Formats: sequence, C-alpha cells, structure tokens
Amino acid sequence: MQSLENRVEEILRKNIDYLSSEAEKKGYTLDHYFSEDVPAIMADGDMLYQAFLNILINAMQSMPDGGRIEVDTVGKDNTVTVHFKDNGGGIDEEIIDKVWAPFFTTKEQGTGLGLGIVKNIIEAHAGRIKIVNRDDQGVDVAITLPENQGL
Ligand SMILES: Nc1ncnc2c1ncn2[C@@H]1O[C@H](COP(=O)(O)OP(=O)(O)O)[C@@H](O)[C@H]1O
Ligand SMILES: [Mg+2]
Repeated sequence: MQSLENRVEEILRKNIDYLSSEAEKKGYTLDHYFSEDVPAIMADGDMLYQAFLNILINAMQSMPDGGRIEVDTVGKDNTVTVHFKDNGGGIDEEIIDKVWAPFFTTKEQGTGLGLGIVKNIIEAHAGRIKIVNRDDQGVDVAITLPENQGL
C-alpha cells in the first residue's frame, strides 16, 4: 500500500467529479460541505477513492428513483470524519450489524462485498467506520481517519 500525505476532500472531489454528470442524469443531487480546517491524512489515495466510491454507489442504489446525497467533512481532535448521507430507505435495525460481513446483501443482484472491502481499507488506515440510520430517512456512513503525524 502506497501511503502519502493526502487531503480527504481532494479524493472526495475526484469521486464527485467522476460521478456527477451521470448522477445528475439519473436524478441524483450530490452536495458537499467541506470544512476548512480538517487535518491532512496519511493515505493510499487510490484505495480511499475506491472505498468512497463503494459508499456512494450504495447510497445511489438505496434511492433507485434518484435523491440527494450529502458528503460532509468535519475536523476534530486530530481526526477527519467524512459523512455520506442519503435519503434512501435506511437499514433494518435487525440487520445493521451484519452489513460488514462478506457476501451479506439485501439486493437481488448484490455481491455483498462492498462494505467488507471498505471496512478493510479504512482499518488499514487506522480509521473507523460506522453506519447509522438517520432520524428522518436514509443512512449516515461515517468514516474517521487520523491526522498525518508525519511518521
Ligand atoms: N446507503 C445504504 N442504504 C441502505 N442500505 C444500505 C446502504 N449501504 C449498504 N446497505 C446495506 O448493506 C448491504 C451490504 O452492502 P454492500 O456490502 O455494499 O453489498 P451490496 O451493495 O452488494 O449489497 C446492502 O445490501 C444493503 O442492505
Ligand atoms: Mg455495495
């Protein structure tokens, strides 16, 4: 794994640029609020790009007729947290702990491999990931990564 100093919002911008025109055609709005003061991280940019893409695709699949996805970054205590929020159907609380398991899927054509891979990538960066149902609708996938300590 090639780790270099990276800025999470630069990786997210690439994700959004890659998806935006197709997403718009299919009825998705991709909004983002990037905080000015988030720390730089030490990361393999390509791996994080793949992880973020998996989450964004899940968000779109949760809203088959289109909808809004919001990507936010928040800096706190030498970490940066990225929130991916959608307005889809959310996840039944009975299965919410199972979504990380390889091959777990609720989709007819799903592989169930996305979130397992995402979790591995985030943990390889000494990060954490959680998924919670939002109050109103949809889920919030939150990824927290440590600041680059220059080691
Ligand atoms: N944004 C989301 N909204 C609702 N459910 C989700 C979302 N992201 C993941 N899930 C649930 O987690 C399961 C596993 O996701 P994933 O590992 O990416 O596999 P797949 O997308 O192939 O089903 C999905 O089948 C779905 O039930
Ligand atoms: Mg998936």
